[in-house]
Amino acid sequence: MNGRFIAVEGADGTGKSTQARLLAERIGALLTREPGGTPLGERIRDLLLDPAGDAPVDRAEALLMAAARAQHVDAVIVPALAAGRDVVSDRYVASSIAYQGYGRGLGDKPVNEVNQFATGGVTPDLVILIEIEASVATSRLGHDLAGSLDRIERAGDDLQLVVAEAYQSMAASDPEHWAVVNGAGTIAQVAARVAKVVDTRIGLRSER
Ligand code: TYD
Repeated sequence: MNGRFIAVEGADGTGKSTQARLLAERIGALLTREPGGTPLGERIRDLLLDPAGDAPVDRAEALLMAAARAQHVDAVIVPALAAGRDVVSDRYVASSIAYQGYGRGLGDKPVNEVNQFATGGVTPDLVILIEIEASVATSRLGHDLAGSLDRIERAGDDLQLVVAEAYQSMAASDPEHWAVVNGAGTIAQVAARVAKVVDTRIGLRSER
């Protein structure tokens, strides 16, 4: 029996990484992330997100995200699912559609094609979109006083707004695979919403 594959998505500052971790703990899933998730992928992540690094052009950014993803799919995601383990990934293909396709303006079609090649068509059973008001996300990200924002987070509010809209339209056009969760409130409140969505949408393990 294959495990379930759940991707957690959202703009920066939505609390998505915390929710991905809590979900994985609750259902005993393997928690992984993108860009990253493998030793090679984590090195690509450093190249992509280092604010002091040599900034890739937009197409290079999309291809590096996809390269890290290809490694992630073959080395981590597919073996875990095949072994019957559930997988929770903090970001997956939809991040590339939102950030590179819409945010960078490369277009959803080419980014989709590159990712089809990268993943071999491995798609999540459920994509959870954590959504909060843009102003809340911006204030959570802060004003980079500590210099802690990565290169893409530093691209600013306009990119984050385009990304949030792209996520909304992806969720609206594929309700069978997407679930939108309100990210407002306490961590526990949001976690309870995520838990409910997962249990009702793709079922408890014992029910499968
Ligand atoms: P993330 O790990 O969510 O940020 P944080 O370190 O704050 O938890 O993601 C890092 C950045 O990479 C984020 O700004 C979104 C971006 N990203 C893309 O642009 N495309 C992608 O395909 C992925 C996976 C991430």
